[in-house]
Amino acid sequence: MKLIHCLLLLLCVGLSFCKTLSLIQQDLLDEKCLKEKYTHQSCEKVFCQPWERCVEGSCICKLPYQCPKAVMSVCSTTGKTYNNYCQLKSHECLSQKTKFLTNGTCHSQGQFDLSLKFGDTESEGLVEVQLGNTTAFICKKNWSITEANVACLYRGFKGGAVDYKKTFNFPDDVDVKITDCLEANCRGLETTLAECGLTKRKANSKDLAGVVCHAQETDLLNDGSFPCVNGKYIPLEQTCDGINDCGDQSDELCCKGCRSGGFHCKSGVCIPKEYQCNGEMDCIKGDDEVNCEGLGHSEVQDSEVQGTRNFEHAGQEQAEILSANMDEDRKLLKSLLPQISCGVRNNTHVTHVRRKRIVGGQIATEGDFPWQVTIKEGEKIHCGGVYIGGCWILTAAHCVRKNVAHRYLVWTGVLDWIRFNPGIAVQRVNRVIIHENYSGSTYQNDIALIELQKHPNKATCELAPTTPACVSWSQYLFNPGDKCFVSGLGRNKGPRNLFRLRWGEVKLIGNCSKYYSNRFFEKEMICAGTDDGSIDACKGDSGGPLVCMNSNNVSYVWGIVSWGENCGNPEFPGVYTKVSNYFDWISFHVGRRLISQYNV
Ligand code: ARG
Repeated sequence: MKLIHCLLLLLCVGLSFCKTLSLIQQDLLDEKCLKEKYTHQSCEKVFCQPWERCVEGSCICKLPYQCPKAVMSVCSTTGKTYNNYCQLKSHECLSQKTKFLTNGTCHSQGQFDLSLKFGDTESEGLVEVQLGNTTAFICKKNWSITEANVACLYRGFKGGAVDYKKTFNFPDDVDVKITDCLEANCRGLETTLAECGLTKRKANSKDLAGVVCHAQETDLLNDGSFPCVNGKYIPLEQTCDGINDCGDQSDELCCKGCRSGGFHCKSGVCIPKEYQCNGEMDCIKGDDEVNCEGLGHSEVQDSEVQGTRNFEHAGQEQAEILSANMDEDRKLLKSLLPQISCGVRNNTHVTHVRRKRIVGGQIATEGDFPWQVTIKEGEKIHCGGVYIGGCWILTAAHCVRKNVAHRYLVWTGVLDWIRFNPGIAVQRVNRVIIHENYSGSTYQNDIALIELQKHPNKATCELAPTTPACVSWSQYLFNPGDKCFVSGLGRNKGPRNLFRLRWGEVKLIGNCSKYYSNRFFEKEMICAGTDDGSIDACKGDSGGPLVCMNSNNVSYVWGIVSWGENCGNPEFPGVYTKVSNYFDWISFHVGRRLISQYNV
């Protein structure tokens, strides 16, 4: 194997086609993203598990009471019965002392173990599983790196598996007659093969799965390999193919495209092709579950292991299910988590109206931008703002001052400032929170929160028909080139306000430092505009929303109108506060529950 590799390499020298070949492989990986060391626990890139929530970019353990209450009993290795899989996994996540054993309530003689047999070292061998009073080897059938990683992780090898195809032979002095094996079917992030479901099948000694786990010494540190975050190295060809070879998913999270087996999420993640249109959102933007007509991967898959049913008929062969696959429970529990409603407008014509300009702009009609608010100080329309739920308005720091909260009024539902349209409401302000690192000279951290006063005898701020815009927890939800909408009551190119709510479609612009060399801070700001500069925000629009829609037409406040060199100038696009950078700051003040749409 090695020799062939060397020969090929030698042959390659000077041959340009080989070079382009390796370039293509390298090209799929986004180097800048790789520096962030994302794993399956990075909620910038992936959804957390139902028993986890997303805090400061990482999935951390939930407390069991934060799981759904549904009773779908499962039994743990400590002999304790839990209400459901989420609650058990939450306990496991917190204490590492318990694992899934079976579904249903616990019976007396439950135990699970996994050992590696007949290898040359501790870290390899045939995979033998003991479940209750059954001891059996795992089948080669369906055995892949996904299952092998789970087995190795269970044995304590943090890097998972390095090989799942190696064969191991019974020593001559061992006389066993193999009649059956256990087939496992994992998703890849389980912590024990029991969770993957174990089905007994007829087998002989040639049908058994072997594994080589990643033990530190076996590192192959050569050029053609990819360093997983967990310390393992895998061949470059195995990155960005939708398969979690690393075991921590780090080979699939920074991809500019995917190899054949993978579906490319717009967030730069490769997921298995089978996850496309399977009824579960896997890409954070939801792009794996749109345009699914005729593509349905759901229902068609082999009739999944279900509850108490203990036999399935695969051909003539009768197979016994020893342990249920927990994937259905996982999905069901996920659907039972609390959900907030945001970003959905009662009116969708905005997307297909012809585009004009907000500097100039298109006049909005009722329900187009139900999160848009107008902030008044004294007699003047002062700034725009965005309703994000509860009693909270997001706006620009440069729009408000802390000590004059009593002077502001927040108007919702305004479309026409001269001839008031119906449905307008006015609220007083209780408090203004300005970002502590806001700089009036550089416009860094130009973000503030306004808390509205509650209605006299109500506990809430009922702002209906105002709908909150969603707040993004991840900086990967939208990318340069995506189309978004800016809206506001601000000025056209002329000197005066226009007194009508207007909107325009703009494109997110990457590399904005080239327009504003020393003034643009990539971590905190985003640029948006059009190639000809014809659409832009302008004076008076500040604090208002730049919203982008995900694949399911859910609107997120992605930017807050902050600054720009003049208005509608193609050399100087509009600059916005990058809201996703402030998710934690916002949730600290308004409460995570209010704005966490996923990963709650
Ligand atoms: N700072 C301005 C305001 O107070 C907003 C400017 C936005 N300018 C732009 N070209 N996008 O209203």
